[in-house]
Amino acid sequence: MTYKSIKGTRDILPSESWKWQRVEEKIRGVMHTFNFREIRTPLFEETSLFSRSIGELTDIVSKEMYTFRDLSGESLTLRPEMTASVVRAHIQHNLREQSPLVKLYYIGPMFRQERPQAGRLRQFHQFGAEAIGSQIPSLDVEVVALAVATYEALGVKKTILRINSVGCEKCRPPYKEMLKRHLTRVRDRLSAESQRRLDVNPLRVLDSKSEEDQSAMAQIPLLKDHLCPECSAHYASVKEELAALELQYEEDGRLVRGLDYYTKTAFEILSKDLGAQDALAGGGRYDLLAEELGGKPTPGIGFAAGIERLMMVSEKQKSFLDGEEKLAIFFAALGNEAQRWAMKQALELRRRGISAELDFLSRSLKAQMREADRQQVRHVIIVGENEVKTRRATIKDMKSGEQKTVSFDEVMSLFEKTNTDK
Ligand code: HAM
Repeated sequence: MTYKSIKGTRDILPSESWKWQRVEEKIRGVMHTFNFREIRTPLFEETSLFSRSIGELTDIVSKEMYTFRDLSGESLTLRPEMTASVVRAHIQHNLREQSPLVKLYYIGPMFRQERPQAGRLRQFHQFGAEAIGSQIPSLDVEVVALAVATYEALGVKKTILRINSVGCEKCRPPYKEMLKRHLTRVRDRLSAESQRRLDVNPLRVLDSKSEEDQSAMAQIPLLKDHLCPECSAHYASVKEELAALELQYEEDGRLVRGLDYYTKTAFEILSKDLGAQDALAGGGRYDLLAEELGGKPTPGIGFAAGIERLMMVSEKQKSFLDGEEKLAIFFAALGNEAQRWAMKQALELRRRGISAELDFLSRSLKAQMREADRQQVRHVIIVGENEVKTRRATIKDMKSGEQKTVSFDEVMSLFEKTNTDK
């Protein structure tokens, strides 16, 4: 029997991992320019951290979490997202003492037991950011601008920003009741999934993509028109400031997120170059979350973005401009003595930060040259038996095809300054 990776999980092989490294570097760069600093939290947490924050009745908590018991019998869960962990860490380490506004970012794997399909995995990766400590609308705009800037820096084109307000504990409950009444009236015309949701979480019916639901809900009232004065003013400011920064957005009164902790601003970034799973990123405010998790009242806003989905769009738009960094030097050595010499030179080059490789399969010189070619290496240093005798090596520039012979002692000096050579 041979083993395969688990359904919904993927290996990232070297042919792809260099792209992930590039993407991660770019993300870190943009986060730095916005003064967000990295946080790394454990991959698993107490189960109740997630059920309390994301919400018992959400899809994530009710059916998608990887939950297990450890030896002490405690229920633990692989993180399905990061916001809960970040807020937990913020409270645990009293980060508000260090700074009233804390700006954090993360990159890492998340786990959800969803039905795998293109752009939907069971172990997937997110990058995201959380700004914790202020409720002013310009912080919402800062976070949205950060998300947009990251896609821009990554060369992703034609993204669509959708925003909405999901209200607060004052305006949402009465709206929910009203929505339920309206939806009950058209219940028979709703899809089976929406009929089920109507009883559990009527707000989620709103963002159903099915056509029958869309037409049944054509006349349904929207929360953005029933916000309390505070939420309404906040939403208006966010829109004004987005416009002032010339950040294009679409208002989507049906945008509700699949996690319960949101208040006020909610947003998503979509791409038409994705399939059915068209959300590149999602986020919003969570002004009550810290309190819900036992901390002092601390407002916050953040977003998270799927890296696999970003990769899919980048591939489609061919936005990976620069290629993988190639090996700088390959030693094609023949015989023990040549190999020993090559090994020593390779070590010295590597110490200087220059990548170097040699043959470990006792191949013929011809086969070694073929290997160097396959790896698209820039220079090959050839040391056959003759070269060993004369203590001279032949250096071949693989781009121009030029060749020259130099003494062993000269080799190192030739590559002193080539550490940027790709
Ligand atoms: P979310 O909408 O559940 O929000 O996930 C954010 C993004 O993660 C999605 O837009 C999608 O790109 C990606 N994603 C989610 N599930 C999968 C999956 N099964 N496979 C592949 N990609 C996936 C959150 O996670 C919130 N924590 C966002 C947030 C941060 N809100 C405030 N701060």
